[in-house]
Amino acid sequence: MTAAALARLYHFVAGNTGPWQIEQAQTLCGDPLPAATRIAVQADTSGFQSAAASWSLRGITSNERYVTRSEKSALVARQESLGRAQATRAALIPIRKNAAWWALVQDERRQILEEQSRHIAIGLKYLPAIARRLHHCRDLGDAEPFDFITWFEYAPEHGSAFDELVAALRASPEWQYVEREADFRLVHSGV
Ligand code: HEM
Repeated sequence: MTAAALARLYHFVAGNTGPWQIEQAQTLCGDPLPAATRIAVQADTSGFQSAAASWSLRGITSNERYVTRSEKSALVARQESLGRAQATRAALIPIRKNAAWWALVQDERRQILEEQSRHIAIGLKYLPAIARRLHHCRDLGDAEPFDFITWFEYAPEHGSAFDELVAALRASPEWQYVEREADFRLVHSGV
């Protein structure tokens, strides 16, 4: 992997160490991940060791595939960065989509994601309270268990808004293509 690509690579390592305590772990569909109590997010992975981990997932940030210029402008105007002091809650939601999704062409996928499901329009309503980062896994090789690792951070008072957002997306046509999904809700405990 090139140095530029390595800089966009993140590991999500679950075990019994790391600053994020797992408050709730759920398997929505597909195989569950092994039990763990804490998660660490590692950005600089050049010396990465996962020997002691219960599981670890990795993903790489990338260019956007679906947003239009006006959606991009709306997102940039509203979105917040990760790492805000008040955002002591996080959600880690790894997702795998099925072969039918990946057999579609780009404009068909956009049609389902936005025109049918309103993913971006719904998501925009929850900015800036929810900060997010999307990681792609497919381009890292065929052995990756998920296609996307999604990561969200918010203050405790926005937990129920986040639940509402996730429920709206899961009820949309896009989610009919999801074949594996786990949902970890995390509390930052500074360890
Ligand atoms: C916080 C509000 C949210 C906003 C503003 C938002 C926005 C977006 C945008 C703009 C994209 C498309 C990026 C592109 O053009 O390639 C996207 C993709 C994605 N989002 Fe969200 N999203 C939000 C919440 C969520 C949540 C809660 C989940 C999971 C439950 C989620 C899962 C995904 C996934 C898996 C993709 C990749 C879809 C694909 O490429 O097939 N998003 N999101």
